[in-house]
Amino acid sequence: MLTPNLTVNAEGHLCIGGADTAALAKAHGTPLYVMDETMIRENCRGYQRVIAEEYGGNGLICFASKALSCKELYRIVDSEQLGADVISGGELYTALQAGMPAAKIVMHGNSKSDEELKMALETGVGRIVCDNLPELERLNRIAGALGKTPAIMLRIKPGIDAHTHDFVKTGCIDSKFGFALETGEALDAVRAASAYPNLKLVGIHCHIGSQIFDTEPFAEAARVMVRFMAQIRAALGLTLPELNLGGGPGIKYTEDDDPPAFGSIVRAILAALKAACSELDFPQPFVLFEPGRSIVGGAGLTLYTVMAKKIIPDIRTYVLVDGGMCDNPRYALYHSRYEAVLANKAGDERSERVTVGGKCCESGDLIGEDMPLQPAEPGDILAVLATGVYNYSMASNYNRNPRAEMVMVKDGAARTVVRRESYEDICRNDI
Ligand code: LLP
Repeated sequence: MLTPNLTVNAEGHLCIGGADTAALAKAHGTPLYVMDETMIRENCRGYQRVIAEEYGGNGLICFASKALSCKELYRIVDSEQLGADVISGGELYTALQAGMPAAKIVMHGNSKSDEELKMALETGVGRIVCDNLPELERLNRIAGALGKTPAIMLRIKPGIDAHTHDFVKTGCIDSKFGFALETGEALDAVRAASAYPNLKLVGIHCHIGSQIFDTEPFAEAARVMVRFMAQIRAALGLTLPELNLGGGPGIKYTEDDDPPAFGSIVRAILAALKAACSELDFPQPFVLFEPGRSIVGGAGLTLYTVMAKKIIPDIRTYVLVDGGMCDNPRYALYHSRYEAVLANKAGDERSERVTVGGKCCESGDLIGEDMPLQPAEPGDILAVLATGVYNYSMASNYNRNPRAEMVMVKDGAARTVVRRESYEDICRNDI
């Protein structure tokens, strides 16, 4: 099985975290997001352990909310002593509603509105990561009006090419995020930020991309960032105390994927960071990481009901399900690959190859093509694996499909953590 939390029971049903997924589909309906709390907690602890062992605990892991934002997730990561990275007023609101301490929240965004900046200031988020010069000017003005001096970081493009999909690659010069290092733009931004009376520059941030399998780009980013901190010290006499290295470790989506464990990536990053600090005689900064995918991705799956099977001779076989790009847009966006299993026939061989089609009125609404699957019939339950990340958080109401329910599994029992939307919910704001 793709992840160790997946098993097949005596009835041949797929189980996650000890819960029978065919039974879950029956009890809660489909489409259904199923998350495994135990695995989420283990992943949080895995990150904490590495920071403790390799860096004396001198850091903070901030769960990247964009990966999966709902109140229960914030409660879980908060109880594991993690903070959160938020990218919008909506994520910030959800985190605070769930009781996440504002001081452990990092506010991101390359186009924050005045309202979002005000909200971050009034609620007292721990750090605001600033992306561009007009934002610095606005934040300084709004902070002054509120009598605040927020701790800020600057988002830097370290010029690292991480081998991943173009849409999720963010650290190169041709990116909409942050200040470029190689043009001198970043140093000018540090100079500007440190001159504002109402802003307290505490550090710099970078994020080189997502779903990355190589360790070296991460380690290189750490070195580049420490070198830049030393350059800031030399040029401006400013020793910044914090460094945020973003997220990005990749996960196993298919049997062919073989990513390094996130623990070994973080170990390599911290080793590179410590070596660079000692080489440049720079004090080891407080370090922040913002993992999303590697905490929740493998901990989730999505269940659908098979509605029909359409065999197009010599071309392909479609298995049509009751969800699609409205609950998982990743194939439509990135041609991302997934493994699928018939939850009620998981013990059987996956002897067919099929295209899984969604219910949206669009030919590109697919969950995957050329996927091995057990022979499907209407009424079967299809499980798509490793959908714990960037699925619910990127879901839409396309075709006015209500967003799916999410359940959290623990010790074999499931509880609803996000209710299924109703048609009434969908029309709530219509006038
Ligand atoms: N920090 C920052 C500033 C980020 O931009 C991101 C992701 C993360 C942390 C978390 O990265 P992770 O550990 O999850 O790789 N929707 C795309 C992924 C977009 C990622 C955007 N930023 C997908 O479905 O693959």
